[in-house]
Amino acid sequence: MVKRAYGDEPMHSENRRADPRYVDKDLATQSLHAGERWEKGNFWTSSTPIHNSTTFFYDQAQDLDDRVYYREPGYVYSRSGSPTSTALERALSTLEGAEVTQVCSSGMAASHLALLTAGAGRDELILCSSDVYGSVYTMVERVFPHLGGRSILMDFGDLGRLEETIKRERPRVVYFEVVTNPMIKVVDAPAVIEMAHRYGAVVVVDNTFTTPFLLRPFEMGADFVTHSVSKFLSGHGDVLAGSVSVYRKSFSKLHDMLIQVGCTLGPNEAWLALRGLKTFPLRMEKQCANALAVAKFLESHRLISSVRYPGLPSHPQNETARRIFSERGSGAMLSFDIADCDKETAFRFLDALRLILPATTLGDVYSLIVNPARTTHHWLSEEELAAIGIGPGTFRMSVGIEGVEDLKQDLDQALEVCQK
Ligand SMILES: Cc1ncc(COP(=O)(O)O)c(C=O)c1O
Repeated sequence: MVKRAYGDEPMHSENRRADPRYVDKDLATQSLHAGERWEKGNFWTSSTPIHNSTTFFYDQAQDLDDRVYYREPGYVYSRSGSPTSTALERALSTLEGAEVTQVCSSGMAASHLALLTAGAGRDELILCSSDVYGSVYTMVERVFPHLGGRSILMDFGDLGRLEETIKRERPRVVYFEVVTNPMIKVVDAPAVIEMAHRYGAVVVVDNTFTTPFLLRPFEMGADFVTHSVSKFLSGHGDVLAGSVSVYRKSFSKLHDMLIQVGCTLGPNEAWLALRGLKTFPLRMEKQCANALAVAKFLESHRLISSVRYPGLPSHPQNETARRIFSERGSGAMLSFDIADCDKETAFRFLDALRLILPATTLGDVYSLIVNPARTTHHWLSEEELAAIGIGPGTFRMSVGIEGVEDLKQDLDQALEVCQK
């Protein structure tokens, strides 16, 4: 049995750090080049190869030994990583301004690994925003208590109440998403992080909706940043992947969790995510511009009773969004309510759409729409839905890269049809 203390094996995390060649470059350049062509051979490939090998061997036995004992960065068995996933990790560390990134098989795996590594477990309290992705809500509410931990889920919008709770309960981990789903509330991330740290908690931020295009939680002091890479970062709806970015001191524990749980990202998936990432800022620029135009269009539509988009002056946290988001935009996620809409009208609206896809994911190049009461939040009672603000006529839209006039036209015609 080899005894190791977490945090003291620098070589182990070396090749997952930000790519020094691109840390000072523009987000577009980082998305395109960071992590690629890192290892030098006697030729280059413009795209990182897919290393479909479960195991790795070396010319000298000593070389394998150096990798097994983390004296050198490298590969032994692909459950702990492959050159293709390393390229993606370098890219994500660079984009997030993180010290190290571990990719994994899904966004859910990322949240689970981050919580375990941050210290959630027996007798420890997780304080989590009640407005998180549904499966994360269930994991925090049921899985961790099952393991002997405790959890409190609450609204992170009221900072006064949040501070009272943190001060009284002293959570080990504070977990939240910056933009909530589907009410698109903006959490004052720097204020929550500072408050949590003041009372000794470790902070995990899920940056899936906001992405480094809008915000980099490490610059606000976060300890862990997670992503469902399946969404905006890969962007094409063709791969499930997740990532956890951390400081080097936490990496060994995180990496050991990955190996033991076995939720590794395969090289083919890593390659798809890496390819999608190349156009990430181009897509986001277009998606944010489209989302703003669609939000304005819906806000002025006679059949719409409310629109929630952080870039609209009418949004309750518009000031917070302007303060904490980059100047690049306000994101590609919005939600709205059709006035006087029951379930049948909602279904007629979805069935009448010709371009926008009625599908339950987000962050794709295609525009996607869901009726949260019947999909993402279907397990909640009517009272619980109403408490959040979700009605039968509430829709969440992830805006894609289509021509914006076509999107407006599609929404307009479906809104007219569903009234009949
Ligand atoms: C904000 C957020 N985090 C995490 C997840 C989980 O990601 P995955 O589906 O890749 O497991 C999702 C999925 O929709 C999400 O929306």
